Order: sequence, then structure tokens, then C-alpha cells
Amino acid sequence: MSPMQIRKMDDMHVHLRQGDMLHRALSHTAVQCERALVMPNTIPPILTATDLVKYRESIIEALASVESFTPLMTFKIVPGTTPAEIHSLKAHGAIAGKLYPDGVTTNSEGGVTDFKALYPVYKAMQDEGLVLCLHGEMPGAFSLDRETLFLDVLRTIAADFPKLKIVLEHATTADAIKCVSELPDNVAASLTVHHLYLTLDDVIGDRLNPHAFCKPIAKRPEDRDMLVKAATSGNPKFFLGSDSAPHPIPSKECACGAAGVYTAPVLLPALIELFERNNQLERLEAFTSEFGAKFYGLPLNKDTITLTEESWTVPDEYHGVKPFLSGSTLKWKVAADKTTAAVTDARATVRAPRA
Ligand code: DOR
Ligand code: ZN
Repeated sequence: MSPMQIRKMDDMHVHLRQGDMLHRALSHTAVQCERALVMPNTIPPILTATDLVKYRESIIEALASVESFTPLMTFKIVPGTTPAEIHSLKAHGAIAGKLYPDGVTTNSEGGVTDFKALYPVYKAMQDEGLVLCLHGEMPGAFSLDRETLFLDVLRTIAADFPKLKIVLEHATTADAIKCVSELPDNVAASLTVHHLYLTLDDVIGDRLNPHAFCKPIAKRPEDRDMLVKAATSGNPKFFLGSDSAPHPIPSKECACGAAGVYTAPVLLPALIELFERNNQLERLEAFTSEFGAKFYGLPLNKDTITLTEESWTVPDEYHGVKPFLSGSTLKWKVAADKTTAAVTDARATVRAPRA
């Protein structure tokens, strides 16, 4: 079979973390993506222009010399965020702000409870052309309803700020797809790979699988099917944002497991299989490498990535983190050039599967 070439991807939602984890996990994203929108829920969070500049420097420093990768920087919107800080963040290279409702996911403590109180911040973001990225879950609601109940907040902000670009991050429900489809073109949604594969049964239907646990939690089969339909529809409102979120295995396999699925190592191979299964392979490149860039007003990436049809088994772990689809056999493999492959391999500690 001849190799497949596609434009390098934009991952419009990724958690790169800090310190050792950043150093070890970054290659998986940087090999497949030319750019990625880097989430600000670090410890401490990215709140100010100074934080943002420092974090961008640490990401660039963590890149291997062979990797050409641009981190697209974000900041965390908290109750204390001010319009003045928004202008400064923009001047220092931010392209989006991420709003986490209070307590709904990893490192979202101290998040937003009063969405209207931030109207001056949304106004400043609209004026600056910054994108508002929403973690769309209503705090305190029943977990399966959290996203649906948040949609009224999205509708209200979209109506009150018609020129503000808004992304409903990691949409998980048929309700969200319908809502975003019906809203004007300044509103889009990112879709993860794991939510295109999983339903709640993969998390709790048989034995508890903490590695499929994430926020928002995977929903019903009809929701998952609607997400797949949206991703493969060719509608530019829906684009890739992996939400790849590495957590060390002990933080997942414990009594109080962290939310997050580490999809970066399998991103493109898993998407190819999904689009192939749905007979929509010709729409893959737009989903991974065009629609996100167009929504954010960025030029399309110029480089391509090559994949060969060569089956491989996803390792049980990379550097102490269990990747999505570990143990499964995938058909397509990223054909990184020799130097890049060596860097990635050096960072991957592949151990024997756990019993
Ligand atoms: O499952 C998740 N993990 N959802 C998020 O929104 C955050 C992420 C993380 O940072 O681990
Ligand atoms: Zn996320």
C-alpha cells in the first residue's frame, strides 16, 4: 500500500503539562501537529502575560531540536480576570482564553461560578479578537446533564457578543452538536478522539476503566454517533481538539482517579481508522488541519505528515502514562523521519502490559 500524506494537524486543545511530563509527552504532539492550542490549567495556572510568556518559553525549551512546532498560547479566565490583563495577554501572544466553571475538571478549582460577571472580560476579548474557549459543564448538576445544562450559558454569551469567537470545547452530546450547528458562525466546537470512540459503558459498563475517565464524561451511544457524524460531516464548525491529558498511572489507578485521556500518541492513526470506517477519509484533513485554523484565523500549515500502512500495537505505557487504545492494533503508523523517531522512542518507556 502506498503511504498516506496529510497536512500536519492543528490540535486545538491539548494539555502539555509542565516539568518532566512536558519534556516526555511533548514529542507525541509535536511529531504529528504543527501547532497546538495549549491549555492553561497548569499548577499554578496561566493567568497573566508573565505566566504565559514563561510557559511558552518552557514549551519551546522542551522541544527536541528536530521538531518544528508552535504552541498556541491560552490563559485561564478566573473570577478575578480584568479587561486590562486581557489587553496585556493579547499583546504578549495569547490567542484564546479558557473558561473553566468552578470544580468541573482537573485543576479547575477557583473557577467561574458567575458567567455574567465576566461580561467586561468577554467584551475585551471580543475587541482584541481573542477566542473564548468554554469548558461547557454546569457545576453541581448531575454528571450526564452537565453539558446540556450549560448550553443556555453558551447561547446567552453568543447572543450578547455576536462578534466574539467562541468554542465549545470537547463537545460530548447530540444536544451540543445541534446547539452549535444552529448558532451563528462565530460559534464552533472542538471534538476529541476519545469521545468519538467511547461511551459511558467503556468507563463503567463492565469493570471500571479509569483510563477512559475524563471530563466531560463519555455519554450515550446516540451521543457518540452524533459526534462522529459531526466530525465526518465536512461542517467547518467542528474541528479537532484532542484534549489529550496525560496523568501518571498511579493518579488514574487509585481511589480518587484523575480525569483525562492521553490520546496524543495515537491521534492521527486513530482518526484515520474512524474516518475510514465511516467512509469519509477524504474529509479527515479538513477536520484535523483546516477548519480549526480557519476558525482561529491562522494560515494553513505547509508541512505534511506521512503515514504508512503498517500495523502496530499501542504500547501499554509511555513514560508512566497509559495511552488511549493501549493494547489495540492500529493499521496506520506515523512515519516520522529517523531523527524524530529516535527522539520519540527515547522518551517512550514501553513496559510489559500490567496483569
Ligand atoms: O478529562 C479532562 N482532563 N478534562 C479536562 O477538561 C481537563 C483534563 C486535564 O487537565 O487532565
Ligand atoms: Zn482539556
